[in-house]
Amino acid sequence: SQSLPYAPVPNQRRHAYRHRLFVNELSQALFEFVGQLLPTAQELVVKEDVRKLLERLIRTIEPESRLLSFGSTANGFNLRNSDMDLCCLIDSDERLSASDLVVMLGDLLERETKFRVKPLPHARIPIVKLSLDPSPGFPSGIACDIGFENRLALENTRLLMCYAMIDPPRVRTFVLFLKVWSKRRKINSPYQGTLSSYGYVLLVIYFLVHVKNPPVLPNLQQIPPLRPVSKEDTHINGYNTWFFDDIELLCQSWRSSNTETVAELLIDFFRYYSRDFAYSTGVASIRAGLLKKESKGWQNDLSSSKFNDSRERNRFCIEDPFETDFNVARCVTREGLYQIRGEFMRASRILAMRPRALVALSQLCEE
Ligand code: GTP
Ligand code: MG
Repeated sequence: SQSLPYAPVPNQRRHAYRHRLFVNELSQALFEFVGQLLPTAQELVVKEDVRKLLERLIRTIEPESRLLSFGSTANGFNLRNSDMDLCCLIDSDERLSASDLVVMLGDLLERETKFRVKPLPHARIPIVKLSLDPSPGFPSGIACDIGFENRLALENTRLLMCYAMIDPPRVRTFVLFLKVWSKRRKINSPYQGTLSSYGYVLLVIYFLVHVKNPPVLPNLQQIPPLRPVSKEDTHINGYNTWFFDDIELLCQSWRSSNTETVAELLIDFFRYYSRDFAYSTGVASIRAGLLKKESKGWQNDLSSSKFNDSRERNRFCIEDPFETDFNVARCVTREGLYQIRGEFMRASRILAMRPRALVALSQLCEE
């Protein structure tokens, strides 16, 4: 037989080549897409001004207080027009209770500012909710929650920020995209049975630390401290909040051997949470990896009486990194989980077709 004048490209190689083109194009498109959704410099300035104004007012009630940002404004995962999460810390021993403060601050802000004010003194975490209607200066308005003494939230914000700092191009792009996607697909409302942004960020970190092999991120809560640390320095309300936070030092000695692009990671993420994660028995813990619901007493107890809502609370289990007895996904209902998994599957299906990158993004985030 006559030999061909060129070496035939085996099917497999052609497939791999097309896949590479697809993920490279998609990664580039993801960077550009989230880049357009970042807050403007002006928005950040306005928000900082609002924080300072509120701090000044609060000090008329509690002179020893500080008002700190947490949540997305402080952890590097903020999108344009995201809400402001503020936490008031009071550095004095004689202070009012959080619920009294909420009532007093609510009255004060109502008198002194143009915000719409809603004090919630009896919530699990008492807060004052503030909002400002859209105006020419702030086209999408401002929404802000002020809580008190929520030191655990400040620490978990710092933990997420440290994870973002280790590999910003991949981690921030991934998280920001997932937040936009979950909001546009309407599966980001804990009050309606789906998951908070905080929950989605934990799912991403869990995936990058514990599912990917080799891991994209190290487990900051398991790296031993360089010097001995005392219990007083590391515990808040009885919870261990220690983690390795010297990211500059870490990056001098640790580098992930995982070289996948952000698009490859995203494709794998959707596949993992559509079919591989053990929803009925597993707990995603960024601190300890995959845990069993049983070992935490979070199992679905089918025999429990109808007054016991533990089944509803533990459909989907994500352990808080510090408050380890707290399920961050406790608000996810049966229908909510069905919807969330449906969306993971839909995203997987879209990406498996390998459309052009811009088509993929617009289909994924279709409202
Ligand atoms: P966007 O507001 O959507 O931009 O996201 P975000 O990153 O601000 O997240 P979210 O509003 O869901 O949460 C804000 C912060 O509140 C988080 O960073 C946590 O510090 C804290 N938080 C939210 N939900 C929980 C929770 O269920 N448990 C605990 N411990 N902290 C939470
Ligand atoms: Mg927020």
